[in-house]
Amino acid sequence: MKISTNINKDVEFVLIDNKSLNKRIKELGKEITKDYKGKNPVLLCLLKGSLHFMTKLAENITLPIEYECLKASSYANTVSTGKVSVLVNMLNSIKDKDVIIIEDIVDTGHTMKNILAILEKEGARSIEIATLLNKQARREVEGINPKYVGFEIPDYFVIGFGLDYNEFYRNLPYIGVLKEEVYKNNEQ
Ligand code: IMP
Repeated sequence: MKISTNINKDVEFVLIDNKSLNKRIKELGKEITKDYKGKNPVLLCLLKGSLHFMTKLAENITLPIEYECLKASSYANTVSTGKVSVLVNMLNSIKDKDVIIIEDIVDTGHTMKNILAILEKEGARSIEIATLLNKQARREVEGINPKYVGFEIPDYFVIGFGLDYNEFYRNLPYIGVLKEEVYKNNEQ
């Protein structure tokens, strides 16, 4: 994999800038604060891609909330394998809790389907999904409808603000489209 010493050089174009991300996340935080008034929801961060979204969103919620984290993976390079494995399970009990799953992007929906199946067994009182990005056009699983969506995006492979390509580019402060030349040779 050929990665530039300045990671910004590997970005074809910026899809969503930092200002727009923060503005939209603030709105989502307000919406969640209103919807969960009187409740203490658990924000369940799906590692590692949702780290940036999780912290920014949490800062904009004024309710008493708890944090949990879970690590699942379905991607090899830029191709979703469809098979999801839960690699690290750091769940305290979510029994009778109102859970909001914090996801960076919902693509085919397979990851979310698996996560939902795991959480439903844990006896949560309610489960909703907050995703920063949604690729509705690529959905393969029916019935995965996030209640909170930051941005609907077309079928680009995106990086930044937590999202990676082979573990890199998460630290870009915006959502960008990766240059084809970066992954072309890697996936042949
Ligand atoms: P799904 O199971 O196909 O819905 O994929 C969901 C997961 O794949 C997300 O949590 C991301 O980690 C990853 N993913 C999907 N699309 C992208 C992308 O455009 N860039 C980076 N990661 C992605």
